[in-house]
Amino acid sequence: MKKVIELITEELADAFEQAGYDKAYAKVTLSNRPDLCEYQCNGALAGAKTYKKAPFMIAEDVASKLGDSVCFEEVSVVKPGFINLKLRKEYVADYLNQMRADGKLGLETAEEARTIVIDYGGPNVAKPLHVGHLRSAIIGESIKRIARKMGHKVLGDIHLGDWGYQMGLIITELRTRKPELPYFAEDYQGEYPKEAPFTIGELEEIYPTASGKAKEDEEYRKEALQATYQLQNGHRGYRAVWKHIMNVSLPDLEKNYKRLNVYFDLWKGEADAQAYIPDMLEWMKKDGYAHIDEGALVIDVQEETDTKEIPPCMIQKSDGASLYGTTDLATLIQREQDYKPDRVIYVADKRQDLHFMQVFRAARKTGIVPKETELEFLGFGTMNGKDGKPFKTREGGVMRLENLIAEIEEEMYKKIAENRTVAEEEAKETAKIVGMSAIKYGDLSNQASKDYVFDIDRFTSFEGNTGPYILYTIVRIKSILNKYQADGKALEDLRIEGAHNESEKALMLEVIKYNEMAETAFDELAPHKICAFVYDLANAFNRFYHETKILAEEDETKQKSYIALLVLTRQVLETCIDLLGFAAPERM
Ligand code: ARG
Repeated sequence: MKKVIELITEELADAFEQAGYDKAYAKVTLSNRPDLCEYQCNGALAGAKTYKKAPFMIAEDVASKLGDSVCFEEVSVVKPGFINLKLRKEYVADYLNQMRADGKLGLETAEEARTIVIDYGGPNVAKPLHVGHLRSAIIGESIKRIARKMGHKVLGDIHLGDWGYQMGLIITELRTRKPELPYFAEDYQGEYPKEAPFTIGELEEIYPTASGKAKEDEEYRKEALQATYQLQNGHRGYRAVWKHIMNVSLPDLEKNYKRLNVYFDLWKGEADAQAYIPDMLEWMKKDGYAHIDEGALVIDVQEETDTKEIPPCMIQKSDGASLYGTTDLATLIQREQDYKPDRVIYVADKRQDLHFMQVFRAARKTGIVPKETELEFLGFGTMNGKDGKPFKTREGGVMRLENLIAEIEEEMYKKIAENRTVAEEEAKETAKIVGMSAIKYGDLSNQASKDYVFDIDRFTSFEGNTGPYILYTIVRIKSILNKYQADGKALEDLRIEGAHNESEKALMLEVIKYNEMAETAFDELAPHKICAFVYDLANAFNRFYHETKILAEEDETKQKSYIALLVLTRQVLETCIDLLGFAAPERM
């Protein structure tokens, strides 16, 4: 369906032409004075110079051609030359009925689906997930859902950090503790045990211990680096340990992400890039893209137009080990080969922007990705505590993801239990669902690149710009619809009529913005635009609800029209929160 703003712009364009002006001036925007009008066109002001005419006169000429427009109830010209517009009630109702019938709520999906890889999550295997990974998961999941809704072929890839130094550390610590294991016997030829030599709990303890030791003890650090190198270069025993680490960690990661309502299509990682690395290094050297600099192999990525120095992209350390940039470049080769993506979007901490700039430039320069392929980095800001510093536990440690979720759920449960009418079991379930909205909405309602303050009290509040408020609104609508049906009335055969009062019209004007908003959220990769929209929509609904008797309405057609509008409003709200990655409970 065409967007309302397009339809009105077309009306204005006709009027500009009929009045003898260039239709390029007919740009319509939402009103910035909602008290005066709903939409406005400032084209007459822009045209004044060209036509050497007072903007007011141009505006009057145009307005005179809009007299019998199907769109407008009111067209008024205001000095110095604004054209203020109000939509006809029936026109709006008609648009809403079309949205209801459309199946996609009026959204025009891509004519040609593009293949988009979204690289998000990025947890480091064997290290606990921390709140930094929370943002990548939440934002990436939402971007994935939005892109898919727009009709694209989207692959969400977790891109595990499973090939780096942390693996070498774990191997080294394990060898120190249990040198007798066959993985460490250099001449061992037999099969390795199927059972892992550690549990997830032990693994989570091994890593920090090893990391601490390496910081104190240079010998230990060297050993760990050596183990990393050997792992990457095919050491049989270390690969077997690596496999155990993966087998023990992945189910745990999966469980954590599932709890966050985050689902990946691909569980690939840095390790999967290894197969492409030796060849890649070879041709990069041969073709002169890479050269040795202070012992390391690097690709220059400085460009003439740069105003500051951009260091080269390092692809092999002097000890032969791969780096973060190596695996990212090799992963692009693999992606190109397997999926031929039109676009790759990376969601990671914005402090990694130099890394991605180097990788993207190196990938282009070396022809790893075709020119048309878009490489994008969506960098997010830091999640801070109320003190404005990166979020910590009460004791000052790094907050683990599961603890954070548990804390939110507990807080939510307390609030729900306060005025609880449902059984404890249900209250607990509801607390989980609502808690998720608190976390996700609290994050996504901020522009991703900005830092934000994680404020449990505010995020879990049922009032204000929060997830629980949005869910509360949806539950309210559901409850009205349930009561309506309980009266033996059906939700079929409903039609939205022209608005009966002002708050109803205001609600309708919000609903019709859905398709335009969703398109913008995709174009700008901006879930916060969806949040802003659902908040406005929820506010508009609640005002309408407070000012209108719905279930007690005696006029049947009028009531049916209200109900139809409620059904549509609920559908739009639920579609939007699904794009944000959470859902509403039945009651709360
Ligand atoms: N594992 C990385 C980290 O924890 C994030 C990975 C981002 N994706 C990528 N392709 N580099 O910081």
